[in-house]
Amino acid sequence: MSNSTGQRKNSFSTGWQCPSNIALVKYWGKHGNQLPNNPSVSFTLSEAATRTFVTWEEDLNTDSPGLSFLFDGKENRAFESRIRKFLDAMSVEHFPFLKFGHLSIETSNSFPHSSGIASSASAMSALSMALCDLELMISGKSVSDVLFHRKASVISRLGSGSACRSVYPVAAIWGQFAEVPGSSDEWATGLESGVHKVFHTFHDDILIISPEEKSVSSSAGHGLMENNPYAPARYVQARAHTGKLLTALREGDLKAFGKITEDEALTLHALMMCSDPSYILMKEGSLSVINLVRRFRSDTDIPLYFTLDAGPNVHLLYPEEFEEPVGQFISSELRPLCHEGRIIRDRVGPGPQKIA
Ligand code: DP6
Repeated sequence: MSNSTGQRKNSFSTGWQCPSNIALVKYWGKHGNQLPNNPSVSFTLSEAATRTFVTWEEDLNTDSPGLSFLFDGKENRAFESRIRKFLDAMSVEHFPFLKFGHLSIETSNSFPHSSGIASSASAMSALSMALCDLELMISGKSVSDVLFHRKASVISRLGSGSACRSVYPVAAIWGQFAEVPGSSDEWATGLESGVHKVFHTFHDDILIISPEEKSVSSSAGHGLMENNPYAPARYVQARAHTGKLLTALREGDLKAFGKITEDEALTLHALMMCSDPSYILMKEGSLSVINLVRRFRSDTDIPLYFTLDAGPNVHLLYPEEFEEPVGQFISSELRPLCHEGRIIRDRVGPGPQKIA
């Protein structure tokens, strides 16, 4: 048997590029096998992305997944051991073919690893898309686009929760939510058709306040929600925000969008501050940016809003039509607050692309 690209017997290759995503309603707190304690909603980005090429070669003399792994063309023991653990787990229930062959993975990010932006969402979703694609190539079967993305989303989630939202264009919701048919805690659902056109070209300029590794990982942060006294109220709030945000996204209501998005970012960081042990991931520069953004908005009436991930960097969200005045404001007042003046200019994007 040879595959469609004419490679040698029982060897299959594919490549996928997947973007990062920025949560608007935050996933913070989980249970069971990577199941979220509340629904979350995100924009899919485009510039911050991972490119992953995989080749699987059958080897019937083994019963455990073989792996070669290169990151940016070089060996990387830390990433490799995380991927090896993930593949071992995936070979049991989801991809038995992994047990009977050798997988070569070559992966790279469009942004420097030290840029301080999370790479696990783009990395795990790119690998998951590639694995789902390989599975179909090997079995010779085909599935609907909806099922393909759904499985890729499940696999991404098992690698890193937020990654499950990166497999769709424009925007996605993860978590069972009555208003969204087909939504589930196990996979994300694409929201593209329910999002007003003003958001399809939204900008997300990521201000790099600090490129340092964060002092408390997201996984540890999720764990601290278990004993956080505000957790029950937070999960109620997240559901209410999800409903309101879906309406704002559908109607193109920028004010409601901005209010919910900023409330979510500040709630996330407030939850960290009142965890036990307490911790703070914002830096002085993050707060300065937030205050300046709010002042700019009240002075100009331009709908410029901020959000933050679990880190100090600030994402600036605004409609395409305000690119020029926002750009001038960033250059004059915000760039000096960024580490080495670093900014990643990103925007809402078309989701995963097959690149090989
Ligand atoms: C603050 O997806 O990185 O970015 O499931 O443990 O890998 P794990 O956590 P991760 O958490 C992301 C948290 C967040 C909010 C979000 O993206 O929704």
